[in-house]
Amino acid sequence: MGPLELLVVAFWVMLPAYVPNNAAVLAGGGAPIDGGRTWKGRRILGDGKTWRGTIVGTLVGVGVAYVLNVFQPTAVSALGFSVPTFPLAAMITLPLGAMLGDMTASFVKRRTGRNRGAPLPGVDQLDFAVMALALTAIVAWEWFVAVFTVALLVVVLIVTPVLHVVTNVLAYLFGFKHEPW
Ligand code: CTP
Ligand code: MG
Repeated sequence: MGPLELLVVAFWVMLPAYVPNNAAVLAGGGAPIDGGRTWKGRRILGDGKTWRGTIVGTLVGVGVAYVLNVFQPTAVSALGFSVPTFPLAAMITLPLGAMLGDMTASFVKRRTGRNRGAPLPGVDQLDFAVMALALTAIVAWEWFVAVFTVALLVVVLIVTPVLHVVTNVLAYLFGFKHEPW
């Protein structure tokens, strides 16, 4: 695969993991998942992780994977190279993993004394992608190894933080987010 093809495939295959966090920002609010509970004097997850944001984010991600599957043949003929379709397992693990990764980072942030919204550079930009990939590797191993070459994984780990920074700064500028990270 050439560089352009790698970039396009990386974006295509990760889109079901990219969209949930942004959907959660738009849908968020309501009851926090930790129900306000604390552990050692600090919130378990905090008010930034809500049921509504997590459920809507996951469902939107599944919907994105479904739409990509529908348009895959069109994309392949338009692009002139192949992009993957998502098996049911990956349709679920990519968005769910993204949400769980973001949640795990919040758990770690609270344990290390960081309040809701505090940045954790590096982790904020990759938590969701790493967990989405890990959960997908566990649940859909054959698809994972067929799609993710080492080169593609490297591109994903470079492109993801760039896209994360850009989308979050935009979300902040448009008033959807409290902080630009
Ligand atoms: N959000 C949500 N549920 C999630 C993830 C995000 O409702 N599982 C919503 C919340 O309204 C949250 C906003 O999206 O405030 C921004 O997400 P994020 O930056 O991940 O949360 P923070 O508020 O910064 O909290 P944390 O420090 O725990 O990351
Ligand atoms: Mg945040």
